[in-house]
This record gives sequence, structure tokens and C-alpha cells, in this order.
Amino acid sequence: MKLSNTPFLPLRRWLALAGAAVALAAPSIASAQGELTVYCTVQEEWCRPMVAAFEKTTGIKVSMTRKSSGEFYAQIKAESANPRGDVWWGGTGDPHLQAAEEGLTDPYVSKTSLDSLQDWAVRQARSAQFRTVGIYAGALGFSYNADELKKRKLPEPKCWADLVKPIYKDEIQVANPNSSGTSYTMLATMVQIMGEDKAFAWMKALHKNVNQYTKSGAAPARAVATGESLIGITFQHDAVVQALGGAPVKIVSPCEGTGYEIGSMSIIKGAKNLANARKWYDWALTPEAQAIGATAGVSYQVPSNKKATVPAAAPKLSEIKLIDYNFAKYGSSAERKRLLAKWDAEVGNQPK
Ligand code: G6P
Repeated sequence: MKLSNTPFLPLRRWLALAGAAVALAAPSIASAQGELTVYCTVQEEWCRPMVAAFEKTTGIKVSMTRKSSGEFYAQIKAESANPRGDVWWGGTGDPHLQAAEEGLTDPYVSKTSLDSLQDWAVRQARSAQFRTVGIYAGALGFSYNADELKKRKLPEPKCWADLVKPIYKDEIQVANPNSSGTSYTMLATMVQIMGEDKAFAWMKALHKNVNQYTKSGAAPARAVATGESLIGITFQHDAVVQALGGAPVKIVSPCEGTGYEIGSMSIIKGAKNLANARKWYDWALTPEAQAIGATAGVSYQVPSNKKATVPAAAPKLSEIKLIDYNFAKYGSSAERKRLLAKWDAEVGNQPK
């Protein structure tokens, strides 16, 4: 009986073919598990150990790029006909909610049980029909360089209202709200604290005191640490990193109260490596993965898994006067677009 159609082959050729077959059947662990493209929106210093730990745990080869929240939102939208990213990890929740509303991200209920997550993280997921989920939280604020403040004999700024005083002309750094989720959080926070008209008047006055609008949200905290800028508006945990690094940085929780972020994660619709994107998603919600930022000494947000240790250095949300930030409204596509266009026209594009 004829077992196959394979014609007779010399032994040497058989061995070569068999070798190739073995090589195909037993590739390296990484290629066996495939690949994953991660769009990372936390600090590069935290993205890197996350990727390394995931690769080690799963054998999946990760290609990672770091960009700010607004930048990745725009990129994912631009790439939607032919998505190049698989999972978008980190960054403020508002652009993740906007992407969800616009159908740019995929619904997924994680295998890491929702019961293990803080209420604010689950609320974020439910409000987006599981197209995103909360991975950490952090409060907005500002920091100043105490040595420089003393040298210049300036008073300590304690409130948002202080930041628009002419004595701080050219002394403040903050990111551009189009690229940065941190800065959009500031814009939306001011509108919620003061009402829209007063908030825009405040931002116009702040414009006179801003020495530079950076692309990334945390950059002003680094500028404060080096003394390049006297004051920087960022999430408070970004200034903690600088203070722990030994810089003469003082962190302020503004007296009027402040907004906060629910740092989020979403799977990109049409992800080429969907199964691996889900593996990242499940893993990133575990206490082990959520401990990596603080263990590496690079990030001090409050993690969303209840079992993850809250880093001792993380600003204590219960001690900060937090506003009841309306994520559904300020993460909605129409509102985010409208506020950013208004900021461009009335603030960013204005001469100083
Ligand atoms: C920093 C903060 C994160 C925040 C992110 C937003 O990395 O540590 O908590 O989510 O900034 O970045 P962006 O550049 O969009 O303001």
C-alpha cells in the first residue's frame, strides 16, 4: 500500500527535511508565543520593566512605544483602518473613554476578576461597556523647587489661584492638553471647580506665567527638580519620583481641591495579536504586575488591584481634597473635542 505521495528521496535530503520540521515544531519560546505591540503611556522608566516582566512570564515578544495620552488617542484613530498597536496601557482615562465611545477599542472582560479591583476601576470599565478598565489612580497638583523659591524670595504657592499671580510670570511649566492627558485633566478640573467662564479666564491668566507647554504630562516635574522651572503642574506622584530622587521639590495639593485620573488600559480594535493583548490585559491587572512601578522606584500611583501594595510614597488620596470628577462627561468625545478646540483658540494660540 502506498503511504504517501512523497517520491523517493536520498537519506541526506530526508535528514535535512526532518531537521527543518523539528525546527518548525520547536521554535524559541518567544516566537512560539508570538508577539505583542504595546502602546505605553506611563513614564518610559515604568514601561520598560513592565515589558521585561511580561516577556519573562509569558515568552511573548513585546514591541513597545511610549507616547502621551492624547497622542496615542490620535494615533489609534488614524490607524483604525489598519491597526498597528494591540494594547494601550496607561495614560489618563478621558482619552481611553473617548476611544471607547468612538469604537476604537475592543470590549473585554478580564479573567482577573473584577471583584479584585477597586470600585473606581470597575466603574471606569462599566461606563465604557468594558472597552477600558482602570489600572491606577493619582491626584493632580503642582510642585515647586524650594531652593529656587527661597533664592527669589517668592511666597509659597498654595492654591490654584496663586498660580496666576504676576509674581510667577514665566515660572510655571505645564503640558499641552492636546498631547497630554495630565494637562487635559487640569483643564477639566478647572472647569469643574470654577465653572467654564472662570476656568478659561484662569487659564488665560496662567498662559502669561507659563514658560513652556511640554508634550508629556510629567516633564514639568523633572524641570522643577533641575530648577529649570520654578513650578510645575503635574500629577502629584510624578513630583514624588523627583523628591525621592533627592531634588529640593515640594508637592502641593491645591487649597481649592483638585481633580484626579483613573489611569486606564484598552485593547485596540482590530488588534493583530488579540489573544496576546488579552494576556497582557489579564496580567496587568494582577497585584504582581501592579507592584512593578513602585518596586522599580519609578512610579507611585495607587494601583487598581485591591491586593496590590499601595506604595508608601504614593500621595494618600483619602487625605487630598478631591473633586467628584465627572469622567463620563469629560471623557466624552464631544466634550473633550470642544474643550480642546476652545483651549487652542482662547489660550494656546494666543500671544503671551
Ligand atoms: C505620567 C503619570 C501617569 C499619567 C501619565 C499621562 O506618566 O505618571 O500617571 O497617566 O503621565 O501622560 P500624559 O503625557 O498623557 O500627560
